[in-house]
Amino acid sequence: MGPPGAGKGTHAKIMSERYGVVHLATGDLLRANVKAGNELGRQAKAIMEKGELVPDVLVIQMIRERLAEKDAKAGFILDGFPRTVAQAEALKKMLQDLQLKLDAVLDFKVSEKVVLDRLSGRRVCPECNANYHIRNIPPQKEGICDQCGTRLIQRKDDKPETVLERLKVYEAKTAPLIDFYKKSGLLRTLNGDLDVEPLQAELGQLS
Ligand code: AP5
Repeated sequence: MGPPGAGKGTHAKIMSERYGVVHLATGDLLRANVKAGNELGRQAKAIMEKGELVPDVLVIQMIRERLAEKDAKAGFILDGFPRTVAQAEALKKMLQDLQLKLDAVLDFKVSEKVVLDRLSGRRVCPECNANYHIRNIPPQKEGICDQCGTRLIQRKDDKPETVLERLKVYEAKTAPLIDFYKKSGLLRTLNGDLDVEPLQAELGQLS
């Protein structure tokens, strides 16, 4: 958990490789549906570009189907889900049905200044979803993905006015989940302002 730009995707990717579990990012899954031009993608596109949340019912169904796939049996890291109390309740029920449980909920605390700097500098690969930052995590060749050679782009929802809307939506709809998970004893709070390596060291101390 954490606001836009907190580093959820960056650290989820590192940890999924370290622990050999799948990284399930609802933002990436939704963007793949938008790219495919299917019904879910058509419904999600305009909502995402405005920085609002895709309706719970659509996201819950998408995650339910993804969690039922074979590669999720060995474990998974959820990134960007749940994002509302309704999604958290639905996840609880899904995990009960699958006889699985969450090990931890990681909450990345980050300042607004850092968020704005990270998102204005973020560049992503439209082909393989690799994630860069023009200063903090630059590709080897400017503007080109290290992994697949595709030209990097800026996400449409990383425009400053949309980032401010995403931050507002986070405070209103997602921040209340912190209490939800605090009560369950699963919450671990991290300093998301830290650079990638020191934050990974903090994460290592949790396990
Ligand atoms: P999503 O793609 O999930 O966006 P988000 O939550 O706003 O998060 P971001 O991807 O912007 O940030 P992040 O925390 O992953 O940071 P990152 O690691 O990339 O969702 C997009 C949209 O989809 C939503 O607005 C909504 O419309 C919809 N959606 C998704 N899930 C939904 C749900 N459950 N319900 C309803 N709607 C949903 O890092 C950012 C940048 O900083 C990168 O450039 C990175 O290289 C750099 N960086 C990261 N960490 C560090 C660090 N420690 N030090 C220096 N640089 C760093």
